[in-house]
Amino acid sequence: ARHLLGIDHLKPAEITTLLDLAEEYVALNQRTVKHSDALAGMTQINMFFENSTRTQASFELAGKRLGADVMNMAMAHSSVKKGETLIDTALTLNAMHPDLLIVRHPHSGAVNLLAEKVNCAVVNAGDGRHEHPTQALLDALTIRRSKGRLHRLTIAICGDIAHSRVARSNLILLGKMENRIRLVGPSTLMPSGVAEMGVEIYEDMREGLKDADVVMMLRLQRERMDGGFIPSEREYYHRWGLDAEKLALAAPDAIVMHPGPMNRGVEIDGTIADDINRSVIQDQVEMGVAVRMAALDLLARNLRAERGKAAAGVMV
Ligand code: CP
Repeated sequence: ARHLLGIDHLKPAEITTLLDLAEEYVALNQRTVKHSDALAGMTQINMFFENSTRTQASFELAGKRLGADVMNMAMAHSSVKKGETLIDTALTLNAMHPDLLIVRHPHSGAVNLLAEKVNCAVVNAGDGRHEHPTQALLDALTIRRSKGRLHRLTIAICGDIAHSRVARSNLILLGKMENRIRLVGPSTLMPSGVAEMGVEIYEDMREGLKDADVVMMLRLQRERMDGGFIPSEREYYHRWGLDAEKLALAAPDAIVMHPGPMNRGVEIDGTIADDINRSVIQDQVEMGVAVRMAALDLLARNLRAERGKAAAGVMV
């Protein structure tokens, strides 16, 4: 495919291919010299219309380690602030001949719309509450490395599911790989229609965590809430915060995940987040760079093949 806009369009075999390539980049990133020429001669532009630490830093590192020219657009200082539309901004940058555009946007569907207007490959770095495909892929690699497999696991995704693009991409990916998925959280933060997707829904966290192999915690995304009922942080932590007592109900070797940014004492006890015997949160960050390198590498290969075919067509 030309773009990576979501998990929905990926087949299980394509997910496995990407994760296998990411394993090679995990090894490269652990070397003293972390360099490959996979993107040599290519230009990557990062356009983040929403705040980011992990995704933006790892896409920048990934592009640089693969030899691309990487430019980070400071969207808060761009002409978007003067009223320029997303599409006009994209067309302007497109005229500078980038090969890869990495886009984060607060509106669901904005990245798909942008991808229709440009000639390069587009990666969705998170759009509204819709999708965050590279997050789901890095979570999948972390799970596969920790548990030795990516199928037949019981995975509890806990917290603010309704506003979470991470939850959505993860439940699509983990469902495709034939895992048992539980969504755990307040009924007010549960999206409608998920029961039909073959997932189990729990409001009682103690029931939802029982014998789970993977416990994935999510933060309350207040920036996407529009006035619905939200419990106080104190009440939320009591009922849905991950503490030692609740974690004890999961499988004895259950791993704890969090995509970040984390709110300690709200959705997770800081001691659990820092417990290297249970928490794989820092592994997720490490896998993020490798997975993004693999995604960029595969998109660049597709782009080169597409351009090669077009050039051959012109010569015939
Ligand atoms: N997990 C994630 O997307 O983190 P950032 O918002 O810091 O990029």
